[in-house]
Amino acid sequence: MKKTSINIGIIGFGTVGAGTAKILIGKQRELESKLGFPLALRNIADLDTRRDRGIKLPAGVLINDAKAVINDPAIDIVVELMGGIHPAKEFILQAITNGKHVVTANKALLATEGQEIFRAAGIHRVDIGFEASVAGSIPIIKVVRESLIGNNIQSIYGIINGTSNYILTKMTEENVDFASALKESQSLGYAEADPTFDVEGIDSAHKLTILASLSFGIPFSFKKIYTEGVTKITPLDIQFASEFGYRIKLLAIAKRTGKDIEVRVHPTMLPKDHLIANVNGVFNAVYIEGDATGAQLYYGRGAGEMPTGSAVVSDIADIAQNIVRTLNSEYRTQTGLIQDGTCKIKKMEDVRCCYYLRFSVLDKPGVLSRISGILGGHDISIRSMIQKGRKAEKAVPVVMMTHEARELDMVRALKKIDRLSVVSAKTVCLRVEEGEG
Ligand code: HSE
Repeated sequence: MKKTSINIGIIGFGTVGAGTAKILIGKQRELESKLGFPLALRNIADLDTRRDRGIKLPAGVLINDAKAVINDPAIDIVVELMGGIHPAKEFILQAITNGKHVVTANKALLATEGQEIFRAAGIHRVDIGFEASVAGSIPIIKVVRESLIGNNIQSIYGIINGTSNYILTKMTEENVDFASALKESQSLGYAEADPTFDVEGIDSAHKLTILASLSFGIPFSFKKIYTEGVTKITPLDIQFASEFGYRIKLLAIAKRTGKDIEVRVHPTMLPKDHLIANVNGVFNAVYIEGDATGAQLYYGRGAGEMPTGSAVVSDIADIAQNIVRTLNSEYRTQTGLIQDGTCKIKKMEDVRCCYYLRFSVLDKPGVLSRISGILGGHDISIRSMIQKGRKAEKAVPVVMMTHEARELDMVRALKKIDRLSVVSAKTVCLRVEEGEG
């Protein structure tokens, strides 16, 4: 049987759905000439069939029944762009069972239910494309799955949430507080349906789960990822960080240390001249170190209608080419997942890094020696220190940078320090990455 066109059905006509449809329809001819066969957008299903998305669809394309797309025997690729876990998961599993290839931008779903979805895809010999699930327009999934296939990845880290990066950029450049920066970021339209996903680091952790699984062959383990957001960052810490020569960024970090993999999301101090420290606004950037390639940096728009639509279309085109090429031969699911069990996620308490600490203390003789005594007692050594102002009665900030220490030692030491009567507020603790880049 000669296949003359590949039929596509989209579920979800929101921002990304509209961007995808604009590319598929507006660039239909160019896509056909590049691929050698046409991509036909057969249906888009969404409960809201009336809202203007800035695109005119041919009559009959927009329908309100997702199941009609999933069960249509003529559709080759189902594109899930509705987001959320349910019913997106059930729709995808049904599409897979029906023998359809799937493209999805749903990072939350893959991070939490990825094992089951990829297992089903393997059984039914269909592909899952998920380029749009991480870092929007940056083709990072393709890079990790295909371009760097000859590498052992040592580390992959970066800024993969535009909303929180915008907030930190505003706080740094305009000295505004978190609440006002958050308000502004919400008007950009990049925030998740639940904006706490952005500011509490959850969206970054979803995306990091996917990157870590692909890079290190570990199962999708969202629940095991240490996650801390940007809500507690203050202009004061941004200012102190700057005095020490650093910027604060919300980093998603996965790196190999021995046999273990560290996987964590938290605000991180980076030297000001580090490339990622200079990624501002809503932009994303991912730094990867492969054993063959050395360091690489990928930068671009991590969200938005057309950038994310572009990533979805790249998956559609890849899968369509696979279908056409392998039509008469054995189909093998191309997950790119290894999961051979050789690596496991390191416990956060065993992670080692340098720290920034801001103590709020009464300015009395002996205070510093008590604090440094506790730090020393937990094997934590101080690298440098700043104290600003002198107020006999009120608390003053004392800021320290430490040498590398173990997370568990730091947690235990801070617990003791925060109980001292001369300490008037919970100590602010930020992790520091010196890194290359
Ligand atoms: N809420 C996400 C962000 C959108 O701010 O980056 C893209 O996943």
